Amino acid sequence: MRTAVFSTKPYDRRFLQAAARAGAHDLVWIEARLDGTTARLAEGCEVACLFVNDRADATALEILTAGGTRFLALRSAGFNHVDLLAAKRLGISVGRVPAYSPEAVAEHTVALILALNRRIHRAHARVREGNFALEGLLGFDLHGRTVGIIGTGQIGAAFARIMAGFGCRLLGHDPAPSDRCLALGMEYRPLGEVLQASDIISLHCPLTPGTRHLIDAAALTLMKRGAMLINTSRGAILDTAAVVQALKSGQLGYLGLDVYEEEEKLFFEDLSSTVIADDVFARLLTFPNVLITGHQAFFTEEAMRAIAETTLANIDAFARSGRAAHPVE
Ligand code: NAI
Repeated sequence: MRTAVFSTKPYDRRFLQAAARAGAHDLVWIEARLDGTTARLAEGCEVACLFVNDRADATALEILTAGGTRFLALRSAGFNHVDLLAAKRLGISVGRVPAYSPEAVAEHTVALILALNRRIHRAHARVREGNFALEGLLGFDLHGRTVGIIGTGQIGAAFARIMAGFGCRLLGHDPAPSDRCLALGMEYRPLGEVLQASDIISLHCPLTPGTRHLIDAAALTLMKRGAMLINTSRGAILDTAAVVQALKSGQLGYLGLDVYEEEEKLFFEDLSSTVIADDVFARLLTFPNVLITGHQAFFTEEAMRAIAETTLANIDAFARSGRAAHPVE
């Protein structure tokens, strides 16, 4: 099937081409992000293949439909960037990659925790400057600490397994408790109790209308003073302005982010020669106890290979049966 691959980067092309070798896929590489102005680039393509910052809103979907697109193949687990009601109304099916490598995201989450706790980013900069002083680099033992996990699906459970290995106590909040996490000794609690009792809180729930700004000013007040908050899920689960206030007051002790509410204006591009216009993001960069990566938690060899293979399997299944192997409904 002719497939318009939006937001193509060299690495997308490499992994999709390798996975497509055996099959008959006509892949059209489009560097632009999908939105209402770029959707017409997919004209004549039955499939549009999208990544997390492509915007499949009603306008974009109407233009895609007019151009002959009938299937959206998402190269992601999350699907908050697709207007599913509009897709349904227009008869566009949607497929996603439900679990390509939960370990990739879980391990990156742990990398943020370890780096923040032991101030590796600051230590690295100091040593390069010939500064071997330890003042300001004091960390804490993870062993014996309480880790609160909001969302204990594939990634949350992989993260729980690693943190259990460190000797942490696990608290969880999820409307659907996981047997894997229960077997690790996780105690499920209401959200407020998890926030109150945890030294480290890590977000692994999807972004939905119900989880938008789940961590707002009120939730931040509930947390232990000086606690660590990690978000590798979706930016808008945090109310970023409230998080900045909590960092300024010292209520929040550490912040690790791989995702950001307004990331589509920033992430995946080299903006090193431009002025960052987003004042909230710029403020976050000034805190010594904040560590940000640009949505790279998924970015491992294994995950990229699995994303490419599942994406093409979804397209093949849609071509055969009119239904993705992993549909979003
Ligand atoms: P999953 O579907 O396996 O697990 C999500 C869990 O969240 C489910 O158990 C669900 O019951 C729970 N949940 C739903 N609403 C909740 C709420 N209000 N409070 C607490 N828990 C709630 O999804 P998976 O694969 O673990 O991915 C989680 C999220 O991670 C994705 O939705 C995506 O946004 C993000 N992600 C980020 C990546 C990155 O590179 N930074 C890569 C892949 C996923």
